[in-house]
Amino acid sequence: MSNYHIKHLEEYFQVYRKSVNHPEAFWEEIAEENFIWRKKWDAVLEWDFSKPEVKWFKGAKLNITENCIDRHLLTRGNKTAILFEPNDPNEPAEYITYKQLSIRVNKFANVLKSKGIQKGDRVCIYLPMIPELSIALLACARIGAIHSVVFAGFSATALATRINDADCKMVITSDGSFRGNKTIDLKGIVDEGLEKCKTVESVLVVKRIHTDIQMKSGRDYWIAPLLEKASATCEIEIMDAEDPLFILYTSGSTGQPKGMLHTTAGYMVYTAYTFKNVFNYKEDDVYWCSADIGWITGHSYIVYGPLANGATSVMFEGVPSYPDFGRFWQVIEKHKVNQFYTAPTAIRALAKEKLAFVEKHDLSSLKVLGSVGEPINEEAWHWYNDNIGKKKSPIVDTFFQTENGGIMLTPIPYVTPTKPTYATLPFIGIQPVLMDENGQELKGNKVEGRLCFQFPWPSIARTIWGNHQRYKETYFTAFKGKYFTGDGALRDEVGYYRITGRVDDVIIVSGHNLGTAPIEDAINEHPAVAESAIVGFPHDIKGNALYGYVILKEVGESRNHDNLRKEINQIITEHIGPIAKLDKIQFTDGLPKTRSGKIMRRILRKIATNESKNLGDISTLLNPEVVQSIIDHKL
Ligand code: PRX
Repeated sequence: MSNYHIKHLEEYFQVYRKSVNHPEAFWEEIAEENFIWRKKWDAVLEWDFSKPEVKWFKGAKLNITENCIDRHLLTRGNKTAILFEPNDPNEPAEYITYKQLSIRVNKFANVLKSKGIQKGDRVCIYLPMIPELSIALLACARIGAIHSVVFAGFSATALATRINDADCKMVITSDGSFRGNKTIDLKGIVDEGLEKCKTVESVLVVKRIHTDIQMKSGRDYWIAPLLEKASATCEIEIMDAEDPLFILYTSGSTGQPKGMLHTTAGYMVYTAYTFKNVFNYKEDDVYWCSADIGWITGHSYIVYGPLANGATSVMFEGVPSYPDFGRFWQVIEKHKVNQFYTAPTAIRALAKEKLAFVEKHDLSSLKVLGSVGEPINEEAWHWYNDNIGKKKSPIVDTFFQTENGGIMLTPIPYVTPTKPTYATLPFIGIQPVLMDENGQELKGNKVEGRLCFQFPWPSIARTIWGNHQRYKETYFTAFKGKYFTGDGALRDEVGYYRITGRVDDVIIVSGHNLGTAPIEDAINEHPAVAESAIVGFPHDIKGNALYGYVILKEVGESRNHDNLRKEINQIITEHIGPIAKLDKIQFTDGLPKTRSGKIMRRILRKIATNESKNLGDISTLLNPEVVQSIIDHKL
C-alpha cells in the first residue's frame, strides 16, 4: 500500500465524502495503485441488496498470496513477515522472513496438491496459534482451495458440524497445543469429530507438543516429511475476483452456525486498506494482534491485512496469564511492538492484577492501541489508555463482525479525537444508518436505534455457505435495502457512534459470539432436562456471562443439583466448547412464554440482570404465574 496516511480530521472528512459520493472511482483508485492484478476488472461494483448480491472488481484476476508474499520478495525478502512468540517464554521466538514464508507456503501448497486438493475444495484448519496456521491459510489461498478455520477451542462435535456443513475434504491439525501450563489433545478431538464426518479423505498433522498420538493409516499424515520432499515453487492459481477465499463460521441467534463466505479481491483490498489506516502502520513497525486466527480478527488483521502491506505481524501462541499476568507487556517490550490490538475482556482481566506487572516493562515502543470484539467499558478504556498507552497512544475502538470482513467503525489514530466507549466514526467508504423499530431511518444526531449499513463495502460476506436464503433473511429483511448488523447503536451530538450491544439472541462472552440456540440444544440433551433458556448478564471480566434457566423433566428431581449443574456444563463443553459454559444455572418449574409458545427472553434477561422491578406488562403471557417464582429463586 502507498505510504501516505491521512493527517487531520478535515482530510478524513474529505476522503470520506469522496468515498461515499463516488465509491466506484474511490475503490478503483485504491485497487489500481496498491495491488497486483493478473487482469483488471470489467466493473468495479455491481450490487443489489434485495437479492442480495454484491460483486466487487468483477472479472478481475489475481491471487491474494501473490499480493501478500511474492510481490514483497524483491524489496522485503529479508524482512520479518511473521514473528512467532511461543507459549513458553523460554522457547526462542521465530522470525519468519518474507523469503522464508514464501518457501514454506509454496511447499505447503504443493503438499495440499499432492493429497488431491484442488481449486474450490474445502480444507478445514484446526490448529493452535503456530506459524503453520498462517502458512496453511496462505497455502490454501495459493491453490484456490477454500479454507475453513475452526477455532481450536471448539469441541469435537462443533468441529464435526462445521466440517460437514462445508463438506471438507481435508483437515489440518496438530498433535496437540500448549495453553499456559496445559496441553490440549487436538488430534484426539479431531479423531472423535471425524467419526461423524464422511467427506474427509486426509488429515495432515503438525508436530507441536510431541506426544504419542494415534495415526490412522491411509488417512493421517505427518506433515514434516511431506514438506521436506515438496518443491519450494508452486505456481499461483489465478483466481477470479469473486472466487471464494474462505468460509468462517459464526453463531446466529437460531439454528446451526453460519458459514460466512468471503471472496478474494474485495476482501484483500478492504483488509489491506483498513489495516494501514486504522493502525497507522509504517514500514518498520512491529504490529501485534493478540486475537486467535480462528476468528475474523485473526484472518483479517494477523494474516491478510498485515501481509498485504508487507508488515511484520506477531503471532502469539500463549495466554495473557502465563507464566504470569505480565506476559503481554513482556512480549511488547521484547519485540518493541508498535501497534497492539486486543479485546476488552483481556484488558479487564489484566486490569484486575497488580500494576507492577505492567510497570516492570518498557512499553515506550507503543504508538497505537486497538480494541475489538465487544463494547469496551469506560473503566477498561481508561486503564488501557493510562497504563498501557501512557496517554500518548490513541485507542482505536474498532467495530466489525465476521460478516463484515474488515473494520467498519473506528477512529483514525492521531486524526479522530477519541472518546471512551465510542467506536467514533465510520471508516472510509462505510455508510452506517440507525433505524427505529418501525423501519424508519433515524436522521440527525443524538439518536439511538439499530445499526445498519446502506451501501456495500468491498469485504462484505457474499453469502452463507449452502444457504443463501438464510443469508438474505438474517441480514437483509429486517430493514429493506439495508444490511442489518444485529447490534444497537447510538449517535451522539457530534455524530460519533457507540455500540450499545446485540439486539438479538446472540450473546458476546469474552468477545466470543455465542448463539443461544446451540447452547440450549446441548443442555436439552441431558436426560434429566425438559427445557432450557439462556440469557446474558453483565460480568466484570467477560463483559457478559451466561445464565441458564432449566426445567427438569421430573418435578422435584432428587438428584444433587450441583452435580447436575456440572453435568450440564460438561455437555455444553462437549457440544460446543468450554467458552460456552454457564456461570449460573437456575432450576425452575416453568419458563415465561407468549401465547404462541415463544420463550420471553426479555423477561428472563431482566431477572438475571436484577431488573425484575421493571418487567413491563406480563399479563399477556401464557403463564404469568411462573415469573414470580423465577424471581424468588434467582441465583
Ligand atoms: O456485537 C458486536 C460485537 O461483536 C459482534 C461481532 O462478533 P464477531 O463476528 O465474532 O466479530 C468480532 C470481531 C470483529 C458485533 O455484532 N463487537 C465487535 N466489535 C465491537 C463490538 N461491540 C462493541 N464494540 C466493538 N468495537
